[in-house]
Amino acid sequence: MSRPDVVERAAPFDFAPLLPAGLPPPAVKWKGAPKYNFTGGNNDADQVPLDGLVAAAEAVLRREGRTLATYGLTSGPQGYRPLRQFLAAKLARDAGIACTFEDVLIVSGSLQALDLVNAVLLARGDTVIIEQETYQGALTRLARLGAHTIGIPLDRDGMRMDVLAAELAALERRNVRPKYIYTIPTVQNPTATIMPEHRRVELLKLARQYGVPIFEDDCYADLVWDGARPPALYAMSGGDGVIHIGSFSKSIAPALRVGFIVGRWDILSRIIACKTDAGSGALEQMVLAEFCAPHFHAHVPKLRRGLRAKLETLMAALDEQFGTAAEFDDPKGGIFLWVKLPDAVDTLKLYPAALAAGVAINPGPEWSTNAAHGRSRMRLCFASPSHEEIRHGIAALAEICRAEFGVPARIANVEARAGR
Ligand SMILES: Cc1ncc(COP(=O)(O)O)c(C=O)c1O
Repeated sequence: MSRPDVVERAAPFDFAPLLPAGLPPPAVKWKGAPKYNFTGGNNDADQVPLDGLVAAAEAVLRREGRTLATYGLTSGPQGYRPLRQFLAAKLARDAGIACTFEDVLIVSGSLQALDLVNAVLLARGDTVIIEQETYQGALTRLARLGAHTIGIPLDRDGMRMDVLAAELAALERRNVRPKYIYTIPTVQNPTATIMPEHRRVELLKLARQYGVPIFEDDCYADLVWDGARPPALYAMSGGDGVIHIGSFSKSIAPALRVGFIVGRWDILSRIIACKTDAGSGALEQMVLAEFCAPHFHAHVPKLRRGLRAKLETLMAALDEQFGTAAEFDDPKGGIFLWVKLPDAVDTLKLYPAALAAGVAINPGPEWSTNAAHGRSRMRLCFASPSHEEIRHGIAALAEICRAEFGVPARIANVEARAGR
């Protein structure tokens, strides 16, 4: 068809007066990935199990491709049944969760799970308890919904129960019943802590005592280096008062956009009623189910070994370039390192300076309810850059940090290296 004539008008149409109040600021146009990208939850490109996914796609499409003609693939509104069956078996084996495929809802990434749980439970002004350092995607959603968030500080075992107990008691005195306690108990984002079983028991007891449900986000649970994880809170509660979410983003690939919710029918039925998108991407679900049933448990240990090797490279690069100026715990799993820099460093200011030089970091305040605590901290994702990019990127970051804040001082590096 030839190009139609454009119907001219004096000035371009202005959408601005039509936009409702409370929208987020406009998106910034994407200008390509930075040279050294330590941001986001991206995974290792070399670890995507391509051959297996190609074979799975071919096999499942040839066998069942015609079901694509039906919304929901003849599996109904909860998602592709073989994928839900795989998940029920996997969650029983790995997380101790006793559920059937009927307790599982497939969603478009666990971000959609956050949206759905919030849609079902939250109204403007509601109170929610979260970990003080937590997933930025959870924080921005809660802010946009006008929720009042209470951040509970973490120690090396995750959310602190003494502070949680005090907060719950204080809220009860004010007749406030929080809508949920959101936790990432197994390889926390960003601190990478793993809540031990005894603390999980305490958390469940407190949640019960105050009548507050737990919202358990377990998306990194497959990435514990030695594969040994504590049972899920959902498992330890028998599913009573716990909503459990997970994802294939960290174990297979984030661009697939496949996550899941596990819940008892009383709450799952309310969540399904809010999922009005006529089903999550069907092809991804089919390919995942076909691939995962035979290959998931061989793939994940390989992925973990590769991630651990990149973490070693990152920790060595930080030691070399920052010396004692960069403090961190050696994480037990995951894809992030949570780094404390000297108090002189403001990572919100380091961020633009580093980006201008091609190094992207996540500044700490964006991952915390306590901006002062996050001020000199940053989150580094080590899964996606190559070993070489990690080394060069951290060297570049140290140069920028030194130019902006005077740390690390060269002399400190030399001393640190000699002393380590
Ligand atoms: C704690 C946590 N929850 C949820 C998500 C969302 O993941 P996805 O929507 O890719 O499943 C992420 C992504 O990084 C995360 O870190």
